[in-house]
Amino acid sequence: MFFISKLSQVGQMVKRFTTAGQLKYVNRSEHMRRSYSCYLQNLNHCPFSTTAADNNCEDGNEQKEKISVTFVDKDGDEMHIKVPIGMSMLEAAQENDIELEGACEGSLACSTCHVIVTDVNYYNKLEDPTDEENDMLDLAFGLTETSRLGCQVIAKHELDGICLALPGATRNFAVDGYVPKPH
Ligand code: FES
Repeated sequence: MFFISKLSQVGQMVKRFTTAGQLKYVNRSEHMRRSYSCYLQNLNHCPFSTTAADNNCEDGNEQKEKISVTFVDKDGDEMHIKVPIGMSMLEAAQENDIELEGACEGSLACSTCHVIVTDVNYYNKLEDPTDEENDMLDLAFGLTETSRLGCQVIAKHELDGICLALPGATRNFAVDGYVPKPH
């Protein structure tokens, strides 16, 4: 009976080496507690990844998911910003305190988000404007050959480096009392 009792105790012990390199037996539950505590410490240092390489990879992707855009205001001052892929130039301008109005919040019912693409090569990389956008552009102040509505220009990799000039004025239907003629 004494022998069986000793055997069951040995079954609960695990081998461990001390820092001095000596072999010793420790209680299994103590061993498990220490291992779990190490695991939690690692999680605290790096909650969403298991290696440092993962972190570097995430940083790299974040860089690639933004493009450089320059806005030029009516005084000729340049503002350089980074715009996430998929974001409209209206949203990007507003997030960066650039004066682009966007009175209808991107619903194609105004022309206050009018921007001028300064380089025709970039203009040609944009999706063709829809009929609704063209209708609104017809009402824009200072329309040019490379005018677009900022809420319809969506950041994509090919537009990296694009430069958008803000016109000297915009026409706001609500404020100016302008009523577009029906077609
Ligand atoms: Fe009105 Fe772009 S915000 S059309």
